[in-house]
Amino acid sequence: MLTARIAVLVSGGGTNLQALMDARGRGELPHGSLALVIADKPGIRAIERAREGDIACAVIPRREPGFEEKVLTALRNYQIDMVVLAGFLGILSADFIRRFPGPIINIHPSLIPAFCGKGFYGLKVHQAALDYGVKVTGATVHYVNEVPDGGKILLQRAVDILPGDTAETLQRRVMEQAEWKLLPAAAERVAADVVAARAASPAKE
Ligand code: GRF
Repeated sequence: MLTARIAVLVSGGGTNLQALMDARGRGELPHGSLALVIADKPGIRAIERAREGDIACAVIPRREPGFEEKVLTALRNYQIDMVVLAGFLGILSADFIRRFPGPIINIHPSLIPAFCGKGFYGLKVHQAALDYGVKVTGATVHYVNEVPDGGKILLQRAVDILPGDTAETLQRRVMEQAEWKLLPAAAERVAADVVAARAASPAKE
């Protein structure tokens, strides 16, 4: 079966990458093939996870000049059809998004439009939810556009905040109950759309 070639951009522990690999192992990613992992810094656990999952991995330091150009080159070289941001902490420029022809999706650990946008990442998101006193939070998978966390929403899942929660306990629950379920489901949905679009208009020979 034709599949959409997926690149996963990572910056940290790679638990969302792991969720994608586990979904693949359970046959829940039939329209996608995890073709490339791009780590934006060396020495992160996500790199080991990519190796353990037999996925090609490129380390392209985000802080070095020409980061986006190097990423676009890698995506072309690996014939990538779609990009998944999985715990990726960079903000891709409007120019990058214009130059990459396929869909880009991101997992954000809150119910957008709450607790999102510039500066809201990692534990900060969960601390903001606790500080505000909301009773429910969750995770969102959305398309990426030039506005941080601003693209069309694909999937969301709510997670209860419990008495005594810390940012750490809440992050863990949101990962387990929401992120790790939503991202594979969203990746499969977008991959199936890519495959269907390709079937509908086969590339000119
Ligand atoms: C976590 O804060 C997660 O909520 C968010 O990115 C961070 C790291 O994710 N999506 P990962 O373990 O690197 O996938």
